[in-house]
Amino acid sequence: MTALTLSTSSAATLRADAIVVGVAKGAKGAVLAPGAEAADKAFDGKLAAVLETLGASGAEGEVTKLPAASGLKAAVVLAVGLGEAPAEDAEYDAEALRRAAGSAARALTGSKKAAFALPAEDAEAVAAISEGALLGAYAFTAYRSNGGDAKAARGAKKADGKSAPLAEVAILGGKPRDKAHKAAVERAQTLAAEVNRARDLINTPSNDLTPKSFAAQAQAAAKEFGLKVEVLDEKALTKGGYGGLMGVGQGSENPPRLVRIGYTHAKAEKTLALVGKGITYDSGGISLKPAGHNETMKCDMSGAAAVFAAVVAAARLGLRVNVTGWLALAENMPSGGALRPGDVLTMYSGKTVEVLNTDAEGRLVLADALTRASEEQPDAIVDVATLTGAMVLALGNRTFGIMANDNAFRASVHEIAEEAGEPAWPMPMPSELRKTLDSPIADLKNIGERAGGGLLAGVFLQEFVGEGIPWAHLDIAGPAFHESAPFGYTPKGGTGSAVRTLVGLAERTADGDLG
Ligand code: BES
Ligand code: MN
Ligand code: ZN
Repeated sequence: MTALTLSTSSAATLRADAIVVGVAKGAKGAVLAPGAEAADKAFDGKLAAVLETLGASGAEGEVTKLPAASGLKAAVVLAVGLGEAPAEDAEYDAEALRRAAGSAARALTGSKKAAFALPAEDAEAVAAISEGALLGAYAFTAYRSNGGDAKAARGAKKADGKSAPLAEVAILGGKPRDKAHKAAVERAQTLAAEVNRARDLINTPSNDLTPKSFAAQAQAAAKEFGLKVEVLDEKALTKGGYGGLMGVGQGSENPPRLVRIGYTHAKAEKTLALVGKGITYDSGGISLKPAGHNETMKCDMSGAAAVFAAVVAAARLGLRVNVTGWLALAENMPSGGALRPGDVLTMYSGKTVEVLNTDAEGRLVLADALTRASEEQPDAIVDVATLTGAMVLALGNRTFGIMANDNAFRASVHEIAEEAGEPAWPMPMPSELRKTLDSPIADLKNIGERAGGGLLAGVFLQEFVGEGIPWAHLDIAGPAFHESAPFGYTPKGGTGSAVRTLVGLAERTADGDLG
Protein backbone atom coordinates (compact mmCIF):
# COMPACT_ATOMS: atom_id res chain seq x y z
CA MET A 1 0.00 0.00 0.00
CA THR A 2 0.97 3.58 -0.53
CA ALA A 3 3.21 4.92 2.26
CA LEU A 4 1.72 7.83 4.16
CA THR A 5 3.50 10.38 6.37
CA LEU A 6 2.64 13.64 8.09
CA SER A 7 5.06 16.40 7.23
CA THR A 8 5.79 19.83 8.65
CA SER A 9 7.82 20.74 5.57
CA SER A 10 6.72 23.55 3.33
CA ALA A 11 5.48 22.81 -0.16
CA ALA A 12 8.30 25.06 -1.34
CA THR A 13 11.11 22.91 0.05
CA LEU A 14 9.75 19.36 -0.02
CA ARG A 15 11.19 17.16 -2.75
CA ALA A 16 8.35 15.37 -4.53
CA ASP A 17 7.14 14.60 -8.04
CA ALA A 18 4.04 16.68 -7.48
CA ILE A 19 2.42 19.11 -5.08
CA VAL A 20 -1.30 18.64 -4.72
CA VAL A 21 -3.39 21.71 -3.87
CA GLY A 22 -7.13 22.12 -3.46
CA VAL A 23 -9.26 24.43 -5.55
CA ALA A 24 -12.89 25.18 -4.78
CA LYS A 25 -15.82 26.96 -6.40
CA GLY A 26 -16.04 30.38 -4.79
CA ALA A 27 -18.67 33.06 -5.29
CA LYS A 28 -16.56 34.74 -7.99
CA GLY A 29 -14.77 31.78 -9.50
CA ALA A 30 -12.07 29.33 -8.50
CA VAL A 31 -10.47 29.86 -5.10
CA LEU A 32 -7.52 28.07 -3.53
CA ALA A 33 -8.17 25.99 -0.43
CA PRO A 34 -6.09 26.48 2.73
CA GLY A 35 -2.77 24.62 2.48
CA ALA A 36 -2.01 26.00 -0.98
CA GLU A 37 -0.29 29.18 0.31
CA ALA A 38 3.32 28.17 -0.34
CA ALA A 39 2.54 26.92 -3.83
CA ASP A 40 0.56 30.08 -4.55
CA LYS A 41 3.50 32.21 -3.44
CA ALA A 42 5.73 30.56 -6.03
CA PHE A 43 3.17 31.69 -8.62
CA ASP A 44 3.31 35.26 -7.24
CA GLY A 45 -0.11 34.82 -5.67
CA LYS A 46 -1.68 34.14 -9.05
CA LEU A 47 -2.19 30.36 -8.88
CA ALA A 48 -5.99 30.61 -8.76
CA ALA A 49 -5.97 32.91 -11.79
CA VAL A 50 -3.58 30.59 -13.67
CA LEU A 51 -5.84 27.64 -12.88
CA GLU A 52 -8.89 29.52 -14.14
CA THR A 53 -7.04 30.32 -17.37
CA LEU A 54 -6.51 26.57 -17.75
CA GLY A 55 -10.26 26.04 -17.34
CA ALA A 56 -10.36 25.00 -13.69
CA SER A 57 -13.55 25.83 -11.82
CA GLY A 58 -13.03 23.94 -8.55
CA ALA A 59 -15.71 21.39 -9.40
CA GLU A 60 -15.58 18.10 -7.51
CA GLY A 61 -13.40 15.52 -9.24
CA GLU A 62 -11.72 18.07 -11.53
CA VAL A 63 -7.96 17.61 -11.90
CA THR A 64 -5.67 20.25 -13.43
CA LYS A 65 -1.93 19.64 -13.88
CA LEU A 66 0.56 22.39 -14.54
CA PRO A 67 4.34 22.73 -14.46
CA ALA A 68 5.50 24.00 -11.09
CA ALA A 69 6.85 27.56 -10.89
CA SER A 70 10.51 28.04 -10.07
CA GLY A 71 10.98 28.15 -6.34
CA LEU A 72 9.17 24.85 -5.90
CA LYS A 73 11.13 21.61 -5.64
CA ALA A 74 8.40 19.58 -7.33
CA ALA A 75 8.02 19.32 -11.09
CA VAL A 76 4.25 19.49 -11.20
CA VAL A 77 1.42 21.19 -9.35
CA LEU A 78 -1.78 19.24 -9.41
CA ALA A 79 -4.93 21.12 -8.46
CA VAL A 80 -7.87 18.99 -7.43
CA GLY A 81 -11.46 20.22 -7.24
CA LEU A 82 -13.20 20.29 -3.86
CA GLY A 83 -16.63 21.46 -5.04
CA GLU A 84 -18.40 24.43 -3.45
CA ALA A 85 -16.15 26.38 -1.08
CA PRO A 86 -17.53 26.21 2.47
CA ALA A 87 -18.95 29.33 4.08
CA GLU A 88 -16.40 31.55 5.77
CA ASP A 89 -15.04 29.97 8.98
CA ALA A 90 -16.62 26.64 8.04
CA GLU A 91 -14.37 23.69 7.23
CA TYR A 92 -14.24 21.49 4.19
CA ASP A 93 -16.57 18.52 4.42
CA ALA A 94 -14.76 15.23 5.17
CA GLU A 95 -16.18 13.47 2.12
CA ALA A 96 -15.10 16.33 -0.19
CA LEU A 97 -11.55 15.92 1.17
CA ARG A 98 -11.65 12.13 0.83
CA ARG A 99 -12.79 12.34 -2.76
CA ALA A 100 -10.32 15.06 -3.72
CA ALA A 101 -7.43 13.13 -2.19
CA GLY A 102 -8.62 10.03 -4.05
CA SER A 103 -8.86 11.85 -7.39
CA ALA A 104 -5.35 13.25 -6.87
CA ALA A 105 -3.91 9.84 -5.99
CA ARG A 106 -5.47 8.32 -9.11
CA ALA A 107 -4.20 11.15 -11.33
CA LEU A 108 -0.69 10.53 -9.95
CA THR A 109 -0.57 6.85 -10.88
CA GLY A 110 3.00 6.12 -11.93
CA SER A 111 4.50 8.86 -9.72
CA LYS A 112 6.71 8.07 -6.78
CA LYS A 113 6.07 10.78 -4.25
CA ALA A 114 3.47 13.49 -3.84
CA ALA A 115 3.05 16.23 -1.26
CA PHE A 116 -0.61 16.82 -0.47
CA ALA A 117 -1.00 20.50 0.44
CA LEU A 118 -4.72 20.20 1.13
CA PRO A 119 -6.67 21.76 4.03
CA ALA A 120 -5.43 19.39 6.76
CA GLU A 121 -6.82 21.68 9.41
CA ASP A 122 -7.58 19.16 12.15
CA ALA A 123 -7.37 15.43 12.89
CA GLU A 124 -10.67 14.79 11.13
CA ALA A 125 -9.38 16.40 7.95
CA VAL A 126 -6.10 14.47 8.23
CA ALA A 127 -8.13 11.27 8.52
CA ALA A 128 -10.23 12.10 5.47
CA ILE A 129 -7.25 13.02 3.30
CA SER A 130 -5.41 9.87 4.40
CA GLU A 131 -8.36 7.60 3.67
CA GLY A 132 -9.00 9.21 0.29
CA ALA A 133 -5.35 8.97 -0.76
CA LEU A 134 -4.93 5.33 0.29
CA LEU A 135 -8.22 4.21 -1.23
CA GLY A 136 -7.71 6.23 -4.41
CA ALA A 137 -4.23 4.80 -4.98
CA TYR A 138 -5.61 1.25 -5.02
CA ALA A 139 -4.94 -0.86 -8.09
CA PHE A 140 -5.73 -4.51 -8.71
CA THR A 141 -2.74 -5.80 -10.63
CA ALA A 142 -2.56 -9.48 -9.68
CA TYR A 143 -3.66 -10.62 -13.12
CA ARG A 144 -1.49 -8.32 -15.25
CA SER A 145 1.33 -10.23 -16.92
CA ASN A 146 3.57 -7.15 -16.57
CA GLY A 147 2.78 -6.17 -13.02
CA GLY A 148 1.02 -8.86 -11.10
CA ASP A 149 2.19 -10.20 -7.79
CA ALA A 150 1.18 -13.69 -8.84
CA LYS A 151 3.07 -13.54 -12.11
CA ALA A 152 6.03 -11.71 -10.60
CA ALA A 153 6.35 -14.52 -8.11
CA ARG A 154 6.66 -16.93 -11.03
CA GLY A 155 9.55 -14.90 -12.41
CA ALA A 156 7.71 -12.94 -15.08
CA LYS A 157 8.52 -9.34 -15.99
CA LYS A 158 8.54 -6.63 -13.35
CA ALA A 159 5.76 -4.09 -13.03
CA ASP A 160 5.87 -1.28 -15.56
CA GLY A 161 6.28 1.93 -13.62
CA LYS A 162 3.56 3.83 -15.46
CA SER A 163 0.71 1.85 -14.01
CA ALA A 164 2.15 1.46 -10.51
CA PRO A 165 0.11 3.13 -7.80
CA LEU A 166 1.43 6.33 -6.25
CA ALA A 167 4.10 5.07 -3.86
CA GLU A 168 4.35 7.77 -1.23
CA VAL A 169 2.19 10.60 0.08
CA ALA A 170 3.30 13.29 2.51
CA ILE A 171 0.41 15.18 4.07
CA LEU A 172 1.57 18.74 4.64
CA GLY A 173 0.06 20.61 7.55
CA GLY A 174 -0.49 17.35 9.41
CA LYS A 175 1.32 17.34 12.74
CA PRO A 176 3.54 14.28 13.17
CA ARG A 177 3.87 14.93 16.92
CA ASP A 178 0.16 15.45 17.54
CA LYS A 179 -1.46 12.37 19.11
CA ALA A 180 -4.79 12.86 17.37
CA HIS A 181 -3.19 13.42 13.97
CA LYS A 182 -1.00 10.34 14.36
CA ALA A 183 -3.97 8.24 15.45
CA ALA A 184 -5.96 9.50 12.46
CA VAL A 185 -3.26 8.33 10.05
CA GLU A 186 -2.91 4.96 11.76
CA ARG A 187 -6.65 4.32 11.71
CA ALA A 188 -6.85 5.37 8.05
CA GLN A 189 -4.02 2.98 7.18
CA THR A 190 -5.78 0.05 8.82
CA LEU A 191 -9.17 0.97 7.43
CA ALA A 192 -7.88 1.44 3.89
CA ALA A 193 -5.85 -1.79 4.03
CA GLU A 194 -9.00 -3.67 5.00
CA VAL A 195 -11.21 -1.96 2.41
CA ASN A 196 -8.54 -2.89 -0.11
CA ARG A 197 -8.53 -6.48 1.19
CA ALA A 198 -12.25 -6.64 0.43
CA ARG A 199 -11.65 -5.10 -3.03
CA ASP A 200 -8.98 -7.68 -3.83
CA LEU A 201 -11.31 -10.53 -2.87
CA ILE A 202 -14.16 -9.10 -4.95
CA ASN A 203 -11.93 -8.51 -7.97
CA THR A 204 -10.49 -12.03 -7.87
CA PRO A 205 -12.24 -14.07 -10.56
CA SER A 206 -14.43 -16.97 -9.55
CA ASN A 207 -12.05 -19.53 -11.05
CA ASP A 208 -9.59 -18.57 -8.31
CA LEU A 209 -11.94 -17.53 -5.51
CA THR A 210 -14.08 -20.48 -4.48
CA PRO A 211 -15.80 -21.11 -1.13
CA LYS A 212 -12.81 -23.24 -0.17
CA SER A 213 -10.12 -20.73 -1.15
CA PHE A 214 -12.08 -17.88 0.47
CA ALA A 215 -12.25 -19.92 3.69
CA ALA A 216 -8.50 -20.55 3.45
CA GLN A 217 -7.90 -16.80 3.28
CA ALA A 218 -9.99 -16.35 6.41
CA GLN A 219 -7.90 -19.02 8.14
CA ALA A 220 -4.66 -17.33 7.09
CA ALA A 221 -5.84 -13.92 8.31
CA ALA A 222 -7.06 -15.45 11.57
CA LYS A 223 -3.60 -16.83 12.16
CA GLU A 224 -1.95 -13.54 11.30
CA PHE A 225 -4.18 -11.39 13.51
CA GLY A 226 -4.95 -13.78 16.36
CA LEU A 227 -8.59 -14.47 15.55
CA LYS A 228 -10.58 -17.59 16.21
CA VAL A 229 -11.75 -19.29 13.05
CA GLU A 230 -13.95 -22.29 12.35
CA VAL A 231 -14.81 -23.61 8.91
CA LEU A 232 -17.74 -25.93 8.28
CA ASP A 233 -17.17 -27.89 5.06
CA GLU A 234 -19.83 -29.69 3.02
CA LYS A 235 -19.73 -32.72 5.30
CA ALA A 236 -20.23 -30.66 8.44
CA LEU A 237 -22.89 -28.53 6.76
CA THR A 238 -24.84 -31.62 5.68
CA LYS A 239 -24.54 -33.14 9.12
CA GLY A 240 -25.57 -29.87 10.75
CA GLY A 241 -28.67 -29.52 8.60
CA TYR A 242 -27.66 -26.37 6.74
CA GLY A 243 -30.21 -26.89 3.96
CA GLY A 244 -29.96 -23.37 2.56
CA LEU A 245 -26.19 -23.38 2.08
CA MET A 246 -26.10 -26.98 0.84
CA GLY A 247 -29.07 -26.46 -1.49
CA VAL A 248 -27.57 -23.43 -3.18
CA GLY A 249 -24.16 -25.08 -3.48
CA GLN A 250 -25.28 -28.52 -4.63
CA GLY A 251 -24.99 -27.75 -8.35
CA SER A 252 -21.36 -26.67 -8.13
CA GLU A 253 -18.07 -28.52 -8.28
CA ASN A 254 -16.95 -26.11 -5.55
CA PRO A 255 -18.89 -27.07 -2.41
CA PRO A 256 -20.08 -24.52 0.17
CA ARG A 257 -18.45 -23.40 3.40
CA LEU A 258 -19.67 -21.57 6.47
CA VAL A 259 -16.89 -19.62 8.14
CA ARG A 260 -17.08 -18.23 11.65
CA ILE A 261 -14.29 -15.74 12.28
CA GLY A 262 -14.31 -14.12 15.68
CA TYR A 263 -12.46 -11.26 17.32
CA THR A 264 -12.80 -10.90 21.07
CA HIS A 265 -11.56 -8.26 23.48
CA ALA A 266 -11.01 -9.18 27.13
CA LYS A 267 -12.89 -6.12 28.35
CA ALA A 268 -15.67 -6.15 25.76
CA GLU A 269 -19.17 -5.52 26.99
CA LYS A 270 -20.98 -6.11 23.70
CA THR A 271 -20.90 -8.62 20.90
CA LEU A 272 -21.72 -7.76 17.30
CA ALA A 273 -22.49 -10.46 14.76
CA LEU A 274 -21.84 -9.66 11.11
CA VAL A 275 -23.21 -11.95 8.41
CA GLY A 276 -22.06 -11.76 4.79
CA LYS A 277 -23.48 -13.18 1.57
CA GLY A 278 -20.60 -15.01 -0.08
CA ILE A 279 -21.78 -16.34 -3.43
CA THR A 280 -18.43 -16.67 -5.18
CA TYR A 281 -20.26 -16.82 -8.51
CA ASP A 282 -23.96 -16.33 -9.16
CA SER A 283 -25.00 -17.85 -12.48
CA GLY A 284 -28.60 -17.91 -11.29
CA GLY A 285 -28.50 -21.72 -11.15
CA ILE A 286 -31.22 -23.54 -13.12
CA SER A 287 -33.12 -20.21 -13.19
CA LEU A 288 -30.10 -19.14 -15.25
CA LYS A 289 -29.29 -15.47 -15.67
CA PRO A 290 -29.31 -14.24 -19.28
CA ALA A 291 -26.14 -12.86 -20.90
CA GLY A 292 -25.79 -9.26 -19.82
CA HIS A 293 -26.63 -10.14 -16.23
CA ASN A 294 -23.83 -12.53 -15.34
CA GLU A 295 -20.62 -10.76 -16.36
CA THR A 296 -20.03 -9.14 -12.98
CA MET A 297 -21.41 -11.91 -10.78
CA LYS A 298 -18.01 -12.71 -9.29
CA CYS A 299 -18.94 -9.73 -7.10
CA ASP A 300 -21.73 -11.66 -5.38
CA MET A 301 -19.48 -12.37 -2.39
CA SER A 302 -18.99 -8.66 -1.63
CA GLY A 303 -21.02 -8.92 1.58
CA ALA A 304 -18.81 -11.70 2.91
CA ALA A 305 -15.70 -9.77 1.85
CA ALA A 306 -16.92 -6.70 3.76
CA VAL A 307 -17.68 -8.74 6.87
CA PHE A 308 -14.31 -10.51 6.76
CA ALA A 309 -12.43 -7.23 6.30
CA ALA A 310 -14.40 -5.52 9.08
CA VAL A 311 -13.63 -8.28 11.59
CA VAL A 312 -9.92 -8.05 10.78
CA ALA A 313 -10.08 -4.26 11.04
CA ALA A 314 -11.73 -4.46 14.47
CA ALA A 315 -8.90 -6.74 15.59
CA ARG A 316 -6.14 -4.57 14.14
CA LEU A 317 -7.67 -1.50 15.78
CA GLY A 318 -7.97 -3.40 19.07
CA LEU A 319 -11.58 -2.28 19.57
CA ARG A 320 -13.15 -3.03 22.93
CA VAL A 321 -15.97 -5.12 21.50
CA ASN A 322 -16.43 -8.69 20.32
CA VAL A 323 -17.09 -9.02 16.60
CA THR A 324 -18.10 -12.33 15.09
CA GLY A 325 -18.12 -12.65 11.31
CA TRP A 326 -20.17 -15.28 9.52
CA LEU A 327 -19.25 -15.90 5.88
CA ALA A 328 -21.95 -17.83 4.00
CA LEU A 329 -19.95 -19.15 1.05
CA ALA A 330 -21.35 -21.06 -1.91
CA GLU A 331 -21.25 -21.07 -5.70
CA ASN A 332 -24.60 -20.94 -7.51
CA MET A 333 -24.29 -23.09 -10.64
CA PRO A 334 -26.59 -25.12 -12.88
CA SER A 335 -25.80 -28.81 -13.34
CA GLY A 336 -27.39 -32.22 -13.25
CA GLY A 337 -27.08 -32.08 -9.50
CA ALA A 338 -28.35 -28.56 -9.05
CA LEU A 339 -31.30 -27.36 -7.04
CA ARG A 340 -34.46 -27.25 -9.21
CA PRO A 341 -37.18 -24.62 -9.13
CA GLY A 342 -39.90 -26.30 -7.06
CA ASP A 343 -37.54 -28.14 -4.71
CA VAL A 344 -38.16 -27.78 -0.99
CA LEU A 345 -35.25 -27.23 1.39
CA THR A 346 -35.20 -27.73 5.13
CA MET A 347 -33.22 -24.84 6.47
CA TYR A 348 -30.86 -24.83 9.48
CA SER A 349 -33.68 -23.24 11.50
CA GLY A 350 -35.97 -26.16 10.70
CA LYS A 351 -38.25 -24.05 8.52
CA THR A 352 -38.99 -25.38 5.03
CA VAL A 353 -38.57 -23.23 1.92
CA GLU A 354 -39.99 -23.91 -1.52
CA VAL A 355 -37.37 -22.63 -3.96
CA LEU A 356 -39.26 -21.26 -6.96
CA ASN A 357 -36.36 -19.27 -8.36
CA THR A 358 -32.83 -20.58 -7.89
CA ASP A 359 -31.51 -17.07 -8.64
CA ALA A 360 -32.94 -15.87 -5.32
CA GLU A 361 -30.10 -17.81 -3.65
CA GLY A 362 -28.56 -15.16 -1.42
CA ARG A 363 -31.43 -15.20 1.03
CA LEU A 364 -31.12 -19.00 1.32
CA VAL A 365 -27.47 -18.99 2.37
CA LEU A 366 -27.99 -15.93 4.58
CA ALA A 367 -30.97 -17.54 6.30
CA ASP A 368 -28.82 -20.40 7.60
CA ALA A 369 -26.06 -18.03 8.70
CA LEU A 370 -28.54 -15.69 10.42
CA THR A 371 -30.06 -18.57 12.38
CA ARG A 372 -26.62 -19.82 13.36
CA ALA A 373 -25.45 -16.32 14.35
CA SER A 374 -28.63 -15.84 16.42
CA GLU A 375 -27.87 -18.96 18.49
CA GLU A 376 -25.02 -17.08 20.15
CA GLN A 377 -27.39 -14.28 21.25
CA PRO A 378 -25.27 -11.35 20.07
CA ASP A 379 -26.30 -7.82 21.04
CA ALA A 380 -26.98 -7.01 17.39
CA ILE A 381 -26.73 -8.63 13.96
CA VAL A 382 -25.94 -6.87 10.69
CA ASP A 383 -26.01 -8.73 7.42
CA VAL A 384 -24.45 -7.41 4.23
CA ALA A 385 -25.42 -8.72 0.81
CA THR A 386 -25.52 -8.02 -2.91
CA LEU A 387 -29.06 -9.25 -2.61
CA THR A 388 -31.42 -7.76 -5.19
CA GLY A 389 -31.48 -6.06 -8.55
CA ALA A 390 -34.59 -4.32 -7.24
CA MET A 391 -32.45 -2.37 -4.76
CA VAL A 392 -30.24 -1.19 -7.62
CA LEU A 393 -33.34 0.03 -9.49
CA ALA A 394 -34.57 1.81 -6.36
CA LEU A 395 -31.37 3.45 -5.09
CA GLY A 396 -28.95 3.41 -8.02
CA ASN A 397 -25.35 2.34 -8.19
CA ARG A 398 -23.87 4.27 -5.30
CA THR A 399 -26.30 3.96 -2.40
CA PHE A 400 -27.08 0.88 -0.33
CA GLY A 401 -30.41 0.17 1.31
CA ILE A 402 -30.79 -0.39 5.06
CA MET A 403 -33.64 -2.44 6.47
CA ALA A 404 -34.03 -3.38 10.12
CA ASN A 405 -36.36 -4.85 12.71
CA ASP A 406 -35.66 -1.87 14.98
CA ASN A 407 -36.10 1.77 13.92
CA ALA A 408 -33.49 3.19 16.28
CA PHE A 409 -30.89 0.66 15.15
CA ARG A 410 -31.61 1.39 11.49
CA ALA A 411 -31.21 5.11 12.14
CA SER A 412 -27.88 4.55 13.92
CA VAL A 413 -26.52 2.41 11.10
CA HIS A 414 -27.61 5.04 8.60
CA GLU A 415 -25.89 7.83 10.53
CA ILE A 416 -22.69 5.78 10.85
CA ALA A 417 -22.71 5.03 7.10
CA GLU A 418 -23.08 8.70 6.16
CA GLU A 419 -20.33 9.65 8.58
CA ALA A 420 -18.04 7.04 7.02
CA GLY A 421 -18.72 8.50 3.57
CA GLU A 422 -20.90 5.62 2.40
CA PRO A 423 -24.21 6.80 0.94
CA ALA A 424 -27.09 4.73 2.33
CA TRP A 425 -30.84 5.04 2.66
CA PRO A 426 -33.47 3.50 4.96
CA MET A 427 -35.98 1.15 3.33
CA PRO A 428 -39.15 -0.24 4.91
CA MET A 429 -40.23 -3.84 5.40
CA PRO A 430 -43.99 -3.58 4.94
CA SER A 431 -45.65 -6.39 6.92
CA GLU A 432 -48.23 -7.07 4.21
CA LEU A 433 -45.45 -8.44 1.99
CA ARG A 434 -44.99 -11.46 4.24
CA LYS A 435 -48.09 -13.22 2.95
CA THR A 436 -46.78 -13.09 -0.63
CA LEU A 437 -44.08 -15.52 0.59
CA ASP A 438 -46.70 -18.10 1.60
CA SER A 439 -46.14 -21.44 -0.13
CA PRO A 440 -48.88 -23.96 -0.86
CA ILE A 441 -46.65 -26.81 0.34
CA ALA A 442 -43.85 -25.44 2.56
CA ASP A 443 -43.46 -22.85 5.34
CA LEU A 444 -42.48 -20.20 2.82
CA LYS A 445 -41.33 -19.59 -0.76
CA ASN A 446 -38.05 -17.89 -1.64
CA ILE A 447 -39.78 -15.38 -3.94
CA GLY A 448 -42.98 -13.38 -3.67
CA GLU A 449 -44.54 -10.72 -5.82
CA ARG A 450 -42.23 -8.66 -8.04
CA ALA A 451 -43.20 -5.30 -6.60
CA GLY A 452 -40.93 -4.26 -3.75
CA GLY A 453 -38.44 -7.05 -4.51
CA GLY A 454 -35.69 -5.55 -2.36
CA LEU A 455 -38.00 -5.12 0.61
CA LEU A 456 -39.39 -8.62 0.22
CA ALA A 457 -35.88 -10.07 0.45
CA GLY A 458 -35.55 -8.29 3.80
CA VAL A 459 -38.91 -9.68 4.92
CA PHE A 460 -37.69 -13.18 4.02
CA LEU A 461 -34.44 -12.77 5.99
CA GLN A 462 -36.29 -11.48 9.06
CA GLU A 463 -37.92 -14.92 9.39
CA PHE A 464 -34.50 -16.32 10.32
CA VAL A 465 -33.36 -13.70 12.85
CA GLY A 466 -33.58 -14.75 16.49
CA GLU A 467 -36.40 -13.27 18.56
CA GLY A 468 -35.49 -9.99 20.26
CA ILE A 469 -32.12 -9.42 18.56
CA PRO A 470 -31.74 -6.00 16.89
CA TRP A 471 -30.92 -6.72 13.25
CA ALA A 472 -30.11 -4.64 10.20
CA HIS A 473 -29.79 -5.76 6.58
CA LEU A 474 -27.60 -3.83 4.12
CA ASP A 475 -28.40 -4.51 0.46
CA ILE A 476 -25.23 -3.38 -1.32
CA ALA A 477 -26.13 -4.74 -4.79
CA GLY A 478 -25.72 -1.22 -6.24
CA PRO A 479 -22.46 0.10 -4.76
CA ALA A 480 -20.53 -3.18 -4.31
CA PHE A 481 -19.09 -3.24 -7.82
CA HIS A 482 -18.35 -0.10 -9.82
CA GLU A 483 -18.58 -0.51 -13.58
CA SER A 484 -18.30 3.03 -14.95
CA ALA A 485 -15.35 5.44 -14.84
CA PRO A 486 -13.54 5.76 -11.50
CA PHE A 487 -14.42 8.80 -9.38
CA GLY A 488 -12.94 10.19 -6.17
CA TYR A 489 -11.46 7.25 -4.29
CA THR A 490 -13.72 4.70 -6.01
CA PRO A 491 -11.95 2.52 -8.57
CA LYS A 492 -13.51 0.34 -11.22
CA GLY A 493 -14.49 -3.08 -9.89
CA GLY A 494 -14.89 -4.08 -6.26
CA THR A 495 -15.39 -1.02 -4.03
CA GLY A 496 -15.27 -2.50 -0.54
CA SER A 497 -18.74 -1.09 0.11
CA ALA A 498 -19.92 -1.40 3.75
CA VAL A 499 -16.49 -2.08 5.28
CA ARG A 500 -16.21 1.45 6.65
CA THR A 501 -19.79 1.37 7.92
CA LEU A 502 -19.24 -1.93 9.73
CA VAL A 503 -16.00 -0.70 11.30
CA GLY A 504 -17.77 2.51 12.35
CA LEU A 505 -20.51 0.42 13.93
CA ALA A 506 -17.97 -1.69 15.81
CA GLU A 507 -16.24 1.48 17.05
CA ARG A 508 -19.50 2.99 18.26
CA THR A 509 -20.50 -0.23 19.94
CA ALA A 510 -17.11 -0.35 21.65
CA ASP A 511 -17.58 3.22 22.84
CA GLY A 512 -20.95 2.27 24.32
CA ASP A 513 -22.77 4.76 22.12
CA LEU A 514 -25.28 2.21 20.90
CA GLY A 515 -28.14 0.96 23.12
N1 BES B 1 -26.88 -11.50 -6.87
C1 BES B 1 -28.16 -11.15 -7.34
C2 BES B 1 -28.49 -9.68 -7.13
C3 BES B 1 -27.64 -8.66 -7.83
C4 BES B 1 -28.11 -8.02 -8.95
C5 BES B 1 -26.40 -8.29 -7.32
C6 BES B 1 -27.34 -7.05 -9.57
C7 BES B 1 -25.63 -7.33 -7.94
C8 BES B 1 -26.09 -6.70 -9.06
C9 BES B 1 -29.21 -11.99 -6.62
O1 BES B 1 -28.82 -13.26 -6.23
C10 BES B 1 -30.36 -12.17 -7.55
O2 BES B 1 -30.18 -12.78 -8.55
N2 BES B 1 -31.51 -11.63 -7.18
C11 BES B 1 -32.68 -11.74 -7.97
C12 BES B 1 -33.85 -12.09 -7.07
C13 BES B 1 -35.10 -12.44 -7.80
C14 BES B 1 -34.94 -13.74 -8.54
C15 BES B 1 -36.23 -12.52 -6.80
C16 BES B 1 -32.92 -10.41 -8.65
O3 BES B 1 -32.69 -9.37 -8.03
O4 BES B 1 -33.30 -10.42 -9.82
MN1 MN C 1 -29.02 -14.67 -7.79
ZN1 ZN D 1 -26.82 -13.52 -5.87
